[in-house]
Amino acid sequence: MSDSKIKAPRGTFDVLGDQAASRTALEVRARSILEGAGYERIETPAFEATELFARGVGESTDIVKKEMFTFEDGAGRSMTLRPEGTAPVCRAYVEHGMHKRRQPVKLWYLSSFFRHERAQAGRYREFWQVGAEALGSEDPAVDAESITLLATLLAETGVTDVRLRLSSLGSVESRSEYRERLQAHLRAHEDSLSEDVRSRIELNPLRAFDSDHPGTRTVMASAPRLLEHLSTEDAAHFEQVRALLDAAKVTYEIDSTLVRGLDYYTRTVFEFTSASLGAQSGVGGGGRYDGLVERLGGPATPGMGWAAGIERILLAGDRSQATPAAPPPVELFVAIDDQGHDVRAAGFGLVSEARTAGLTAQMDLGGRSLKGQLGHANALGARFVAIVGVEQTTLRDMQTGDQQPVATDAVVHAVLRGQHDL
Ligand code: HAM
Repeated sequence: MSDSKIKAPRGTFDVLGDQAASRTALEVRARSILEGAGYERIETPAFEATELFARGVGESTDIVKKEMFTFEDGAGRSMTLRPEGTAPVCRAYVEHGMHKRRQPVKLWYLSSFFRHERAQAGRYREFWQVGAEALGSEDPAVDAESITLLATLLAETGVTDVRLRLSSLGSVESRSEYRERLQAHLRAHEDSLSEDVRSRIELNPLRAFDSDHPGTRTVMASAPRLLEHLSTEDAAHFEQVRALLDAAKVTYEIDSTLVRGLDYYTRTVFEFTSASLGAQSGVGGGGRYDGLVERLGGPATPGMGWAAGIERILLAGDRSQATPAAPPPVELFVAIDDQGHDVRAAGFGLVSEARTAGLTAQMDLGGRSLKGQLGHANALGARFVAIVGVEQTTLRDMQTGDQQPVATDAVVHAVLRGQHDL
């Protein structure tokens, strides 16, 4: 071959063999936990109008400023590969009139997302998230239930060294007074701040808590804390979320410096980290977003949810707990003792008939000798083998070794009866 090999793009990966099996096991577990709690599956398109994320996630966030894969469709409209799932779920809630259903509407997803980030272990440009969103209720029980479900998922997948950090950002109204206080503090220490934080004093001063720039960190150590300036209602809401988490025996730490990388949060915010992950320690996080649906053109609707990275759960989780059930055993293996077209077609037809009748059936697709095919059937642990020939078909019971001629169109019936007799 003269041309150089083509590789998967930077920050992306193929899912093969055991990894595919672990993902299936994780999906089965997530589904059972979430659907058991009344969440329904939703899947939204892989790309959306760019404006959905600009408005939903926020113009001042890293995601919108520099991490989106954006392109023009044929008609000159700007589209973006989804960097996250909350804005699309809220868009779907409005588009399908879900506010008319009994509230809260609880939805979950397991999909791939795209961010143009610096790729490293645990951080990819296409990654997968399992997420859960509850729309239409501001009851603190929604917050506590949502957080508890993620705690359960992480526990059941064997993620170790987990810490849950919890805070409240208050409602947008009660936050504006605090914002001014924080902006005044930042301006007073502007010279010590990083370029990035300085440029965001107006738009997004809270993100300064997230900076790892040493000068900024010193300034933030003495900054006023939002948790100490919550309105009475917001403080009471947070108090109840905490009491309910205590009742559910979920352990958490209050962290008044916790801010999230997306702009839509109000009131409760949280993040799960696992020390076993190293630098990219965030395994899942979320919070309340009471203004988002309205910002996207829908009716005023509270919302609460989270997303957790599938790759990070698998990296931090217990491999043995991620082992999926073995594939179903092969009930019928069809071997052919002649490679002529008619015999191959008869064998192929028989596999198809067996599958339609509900049996697990396979045949050799590699043109092997009869001996090779029987070896394959043995390796698969096939229960019965039908050997289709020019003259006749033979059915062999692999457990007893019994073998007898059977009409090809009677094989499926014989296998079903044979299984029944066991
Ligand atoms: P997020 O914190 O940006 O939140 O992402 C949630 C999780 O996705 C992270 O904790 C991490 O495990 C995983 N993740 C994020 N970026 C990457 C990446 N580049 N590579 C691998 N894993 C990654 C959200 O996306 C919000 N939509 C969560 C939410 C739902 N809030 C309310 N509802």
